[in-house]
Amino acid sequence: MENQPENNIDLSYERHGKGAPLVLIHGFPLDLSIWDNVVPLLENDFDLIVPDLRGFGESSTVDAPYTMLDFAHDIAGLLDHLGVEKAAFAGHSMGGYVALAFAKEYPGRVSGLALVSSQAAADAPERKAGRYKTARDVAEKGVDVVANAMTPKLSANEKVQEFTNLLMKAQSREGVVGALKAMAEREDSTSVLSQFTFPVVLIHGDADALIPMDRAREIKSILPAAQWIRLKKAGHMPMLEFPEKTAEALKLLK
Ligand code: MLT
Repeated sequence: MENQPENNIDLSYERHGKGAPLVLIHGFPLDLSIWDNVVPLLENDFDLIVPDLRGFGESSTVDAPYTMLDFAHDIAGLLDHLGVEKAAFAGHSMGGYVALAFAKEYPGRVSGLALVSSQAAADAPERKAGRYKTARDVAEKGVDVVANAMTPKLSANEKVQEFTNLLMKAQSREGVVGALKAMAEREDSTSVLSQFTFPVVLIHGDADALIPMDRAREIKSILPAAQWIRLKKAGHMPMLEFPEKTAEALKLLK
């Protein structure tokens, strides 16, 4: 647990393995345990830094509104605390939005970026409005609303559905509401992609029901140098559905 006095956040994290630093950032509304199956496959290659984003897992949160940039600042604070100046980043879905915010704010601290089941675009107006409605529902009725709605969209694999459903239900109401608002307000990142000078890897399941593979295609068309790994029959959770293939793809960041 690392205290961030500046923004009053206690960030929980795990650190495993040896090698070049790689930060694994989980998606919404999950926590660092989604990476549990890939960590053993990567720890001979990387110094893995695996945080719980604010409001998720064991990390604390604040009552005031926050943004993708605040999530990114939290991670920068964690890296400062660990004495790590530069790292590669793998962000799953919302974790990809955080990694993109980090790369925009601190380009000199990024040695590579993997977007796992993620996208660079901001929300369309109706999606943004939908997030605020969901945030109101969660504030009123609890996180089960979001967990039950999302479960079938995350994966067709029953074990993955069971695991993620329980994990989502274990998250705090405040954290889920805070992240929904932060996602709704996130900036479009497509315009900055071409400025990235570090390697970019796109890992996307062809059966992703939440963020379609076309989002990866769009990034590839803007950034032809990006390596695009298409995972056949993978849904939104490739690190749980196909951990070996996901780990191999992440090794492209070495
Ligand atoms: C996620 O999986 O992190 C989120 O569902 C992404 C999103 O809603 O945009």
